[in-house]
Amino acid sequence: MKEKIRKAILPAGGLGTRFLPATKASPKEMLPIVDKPMIQYAIEEARACGINEFIIITGKYKRAIEDHFDSAYELEESLKKTGKKTLLEEISRLNNLNFAYIRQKAALGLGHAIYCARPFVKDEPFAVLLSDDIIDPETPLLRNMINLFKKLDSPILALEKVPMSEISRYGVIEGVSDGEENLFRINKLVEKPPPAIAPSDMAIIGRYILTPDIFDILEGIGPGKGGEIQLTDALFGLLKKRQIYGYLFTGQRYDAGDKLGYLKATVDIALKRPQISEPFKNYIIELADRIKLNI
Ligand code: UTP
Repeated sequence: MKEKIRKAILPAGGLGTRFLPATKASPKEMLPIVDKPMIQYAIEEARACGINEFIIITGKYKRAIEDHFDSAYELEESLKKTGKKTLLEEISRLNNLNFAYIRQKAALGLGHAIYCARPFVKDEPFAVLLSDDIIDPETPLLRNMINLFKKLDSPILALEKVPMSEISRYGVIEGVSDGEENLFRINKLVEKPPPAIAPSDMAIIGRYILTPDIFDILEGIGPGKGGEIQLTDALFGLLKKRQIYGYLFTGQRYDAGDKLGYLKATVDIALKRPQISEPFKNYIIELADRIKLNI
């Protein structure tokens, strides 16, 4: 019987250097996209797939994440008294989820962040969501990956084709089609390769279904690219022991850990928000005209 995915790890221990100075004393993961912090989009995505145990890897200056997912008694009482039902529902609807926080003592890399969750995950398979990759909530990426896991009982990495000019920002795979649509058997992984030696244009994006045997590998690996303990290197080690699959995502993803991706996510998501979409769309049309006329 294949195990169910009940837990998700959300690494949030990084330094967020691409967003300095905003991230000097505040977590990047708490930057809002319209009115919700980035990390909440990832939590809601996982919850929609039946996951309700969350392990968040934090670090220095990340306390706001814990406060955000805690219940807010005073605020809730005040909203109750003033009859602000919708807002009350909005701030309390995640109250029944379980959160555990582990402090990564130094930002030693994504692989190290995942390893920190070992005592909480123990020996079951789990999902990993990087909250700065925002996935269009209308596309069932994580759900498809979980369904594939039920069938394959093997680690599954989300992939996206990216332009070669951007390939050196990602972990990149070499794989062969498995016959099933968008599914690949991975036979090589390289972290942040220069375009000339990249094995393909298929990059690993921030959604993973992993098995607990990754922890033994993470325990034994040293620093890789950029001096960080890289998850990609550990996955390459695991590949020598078992099959790993890649699932090619063709929907909309925003790299919101990067300024341009963050702005695109903000605009697109705002255009879908009922209360502001119309006036915001009108503003954008007016802005586009001004840009065209250079005024
Ligand atoms: P990123 O490289 O996108 O985030 O890592 P970063 O390091 O915070 O940001 P930059 O690159 O300096 O601008 C992907 C995810 O992995 C987490 C980050 O918090 C982010 O959610 N991470 C990274 C950790 O939890 N620990 C680390 O040591 C490194």
